[in-house]
Amino acid sequence: ISVLSVASEMYPFIKTGGLADVVGALPEALAEQNVSVTTFLPAYPAVKSTVANTIPVLDLPAFFGGNAKILSGQVNGLSLFILDAPHLFERAGNPYSDASGNDWQDNPERYAALSMAAAMIGWGAIEGFKPDIVHVHDWQAALTPAYLHYLGEGRHQPKTVLTIHNLAFQGQFPAHVFARLNLPNHAYSMEGVEYYNAVGYLKAGINFADAITTVSPTYAREICSAEGGMGLDGLLRKRGNAVSGIINGIDINIWNPASDALLASSFDATSIEKRLMNKRAIETQFGLPQADTPLFCLVSRLTWQKGIDLIIDSIDAMVGMGARLVVLGTGDRGLEAALYAAVSHHPTQVAVRIGYDEGVSHLLQGGSDAILVPSRFEPCGLTQLYGLRYGCVPVVSQVGGLADTVIDANDAAITARAATGVNFHQITPAGFQAAVDRTIKLYHQHDVWRGMQQAGMHSDVAWRRSAAKYVQLYTGLLR
Ligand code: ADP
Ligand code: GLC
Repeated sequence: ISVLSVASEMYPFIKTGGLADVVGALPEALAEQNVSVTTFLPAYPAVKSTVANTIPVLDLPAFFGGNAKILSGQVNGLSLFILDAPHLFERAGNPYSDASGNDWQDNPERYAALSMAAAMIGWGAIEGFKPDIVHVHDWQAALTPAYLHYLGEGRHQPKTVLTIHNLAFQGQFPAHVFARLNLPNHAYSMEGVEYYNAVGYLKAGINFADAITTVSPTYAREICSAEGGMGLDGLLRKRGNAVSGIINGIDINIWNPASDALLASSFDATSIEKRLMNKRAIETQFGLPQADTPLFCLVSRLTWQKGIDLIIDSIDAMVGMGARLVVLGTGDRGLEAALYAAVSHHPTQVAVRIGYDEGVSHLLQGGSDAILVPSRFEPCGLTQLYGLRYGCVPVVSQVGGLADTVIDANDAAITARAATGVNFHQITPAGFQAAVDRTIKLYHQHDVWRGMQQAGMHSDVAWRRSAAKYVQLYTGLLR
């Protein structure tokens, strides 16, 4: 089976969140199951400079306001097509916004261009490449099935899969954008790309994709309900069995505590005590005094989704319980300021690094005792999976992929040695504080805590099982 995967980010080239990790790891996992994946990305500077020795494979003159071409290339065993359209993508920094954090005005054109070019590759415009499946990720690629539908008539029609990594980002733009999309007029309708008198990219994808997946079974149920559907639940319910949830895995070679060069000390499930050297390294790097009290970490985008405000409202209480907190994150300026304020109140117990740092994120997983993920909603979540693999016990709200991956330390689970974390239902400061309190009590029961760390480190977070589910999905579509 040959798959064209279409996305706006991919680790290690460009990353703003978990989407990049997934798009970067799936090709290798699928290759092991005889599915060959070529990934199609915008040629942002960070991508273009990494992919050397590219070959032009398709010219796209006057494409969304400038000349573009598709280049093909290989890096570290990954096959790539990149959309080289300098007028759209030759901009430094974050893929979606300018230096002051505002979305690029022409995002509708930028990702329509990606999607239209993807549709063209899908119908065989590149000689010698005809994918069976076009697998598109999130709103940035979600117009692809619409372009295949409206412009691909009479050509090779691959089957299409849309994976929704986060329903909160729907790619909705004012109606006047439609004129710039190169779609026939009748596409602007409820059966097409129109959505509440605007253009809806994700809506169009949900409409036209042969199958729709999201990144955990629980989130798949949540988005089909009025509470979790963010306006799209009706349409998702209409697609019925075409909607399913496949939990994300992680790249267990990049995230391997036994060989991770980004740690001060590597370790495995039989040498968990070596994590202590990583704790010491965190204290040094974050300017905290050495202590043997439980160290919680947070590695996250700082946004409402992630429940960061619950943590901020609970810092005094946490410190009162004897906990310490280190934060690595960036995002909402108000949340950043509130975190800095907490540091000034508790300089020896709380430390914050605002920014994005892949290396520090590994060290925090390898040396903190627990990782906080109190999300209001979480399609899958990856940091709790890294936590499991690194013996960093996840403390998570009972939503989406968090509920599907962390086994709460209730009495039965502890007795069965199955517990891997602490889950809480009530997503409020009080609910969160009760979870932290419970975590600290578990931490002080040394054997129980070690058992939880070991169970976590042994849980299967690799891609193999989930990759097999994608293969099953592809095979079913092609039957
Ligand atoms: P989301 O995609 O919603 O942000 P995920 O948990 O799926 O949430 O993925 C987040 C990814 O981004 C993880 O790989 C996490 O380690 C990483 N990450 C988030 N914030 C930072 C940061 N400030 N520095 C380094 N890595 C980060
Ligand atoms: C999104 C979600 C996150 C998920 C990631 C990868 O960013 O917010 O929960 O893990 O995509 O699928």
